[in-house]
Amino acid sequence: MKNWIEIGKEVMMPTYAPAPIVIDQAKGCTVTDTDGKEYLDFVAGIAVNSLGGSHPKLVAALQDQVAKLLHVSNLYWTAPSVEAAELLAKASGMDQVFFCNSGAEAVEGAIKLARKSGGEDRYEIIAMNQSFHGRTFGAMSATGQPKYQKGFAPLVPGIVHVPFMDVEAVKAATNDKTVAVLFEVIQGEGGIHPVTKAYYQAIQAWCKAKGLLMIIDEVQTGNGRCGSYFAYQQFGERPDIVATAKGLGGGLPIGAVMATKEAAANFKPGDHATTFGGNPLVTRAAATVLTVMEEENILENVQKMSVYLKEQLLNLKTDHLVEVRGMGLMLGAELDIPAAPICKACAEKGLLLVGAGANVIRFVPPLVVTKQDIDAMIAILQEVMDA
Ligand SMILES: Cc1ncc(COP(=O)(O)O)c(C=O)c1O
Repeated sequence: MKNWIEIGKEVMMPTYAPAPIVIDQAKGCTVTDTDGKEYLDFVAGIAVNSLGGSHPKLVAALQDQVAKLLHVSNLYWTAPSVEAAELLAKASGMDQVFFCNSGAEAVEGAIKLARKSGGEDRYEIIAMNQSFHGRTFGAMSATGQPKYQKGFAPLVPGIVHVPFMDVEAVKAATNDKTVAVLFEVIQGEGGIHPVTKAYYQAIQAWCKAKGLLMIIDEVQTGNGRCGSYFAYQQFGERPDIVATAKGLGGGLPIGAVMATKEAAANFKPGDHATTFGGNPLVTRAAATVLTVMEEENILENVQKMSVYLKEQLLNLKTDHLVEVRGMGLMLGAELDIPAAPICKACAEKGLLLVGAGANVIRFVPPLVVTKQDIDAMIAILQEVMDA
């Protein structure tokens, strides 16, 4: 067998530092490497593989679509893209959808839509410290963590950062150039920090009073991850603009900007576009994921497994656990020690976990995770913590 890791180090840019595991297959919450070793997967492609590996309905739909039609561009209509948009609008309570290819692109689209609505005079976006919105220029500039921006100046101007969860700071940063406020309802990469309902509603009230657009980044929290289709549904009224991606395609690369009809009307033909956006393969995946979520009561599973996973994490026998936080199946366990060595030791024992910030282990399993999977995960984690 070829040594994929050695070849990869030669031919792939060194932007990632992957674990020395070559994954070959996935089924449910288990992935298998090229040596046949199995791993329990609590990473799910970083909160992506919502239906787990090889879900039969997703496999069947994609096989059918691959054989029929892969791509036509947005010069023409296709049934899968319209169906995915219709299902997504219904699930989210938003009105209109623009499909793109990733989370960062969804944030870019959201920023462009907000700026278009502000005309020439209003363009400033208020974003949060410790936020993460992606690695393209607009999304990176909106990200409130200097470590992601170092070496890439000058950034996109017109984005101001304020402390997270501080309503007064948003008010103080608002001026006659402000067009929108952008935040995550749970800061994911920032360490799994949810906002409160009071904060969400206060920002929404401020946006309404000042004629600002409220943009919610649900790239990670969306598509059922937090126990409702979108996390904002548990916080208050719908925002004006939503960016999402990750779980939407169940593993296929698709993102979406969603908006109210009023906000969406600021985009005219030619204002925004992407060649691959909403192609029939990825939108067939999204439509299938949304359909399966409904047919198989997956939101209910997320809610139940969230309670169980939280309980089991809190029952871990260790002095190093500081706090368990998050919503649905986006939970973080903050430790008083670095998370990375724990994740590495777990991988050696057949459990995939990922950190979020220096001291937080993130738990984002497939949304079809079972109690047995959670018990097996906890057993390995306990063993590693003991050591
Ligand atoms: C909240 C949030 N926004 C945006 C992104 C960027 O998404 P992508 O990596 O698909 O570009 C991420 C990725 O982790 C995210 O968590």
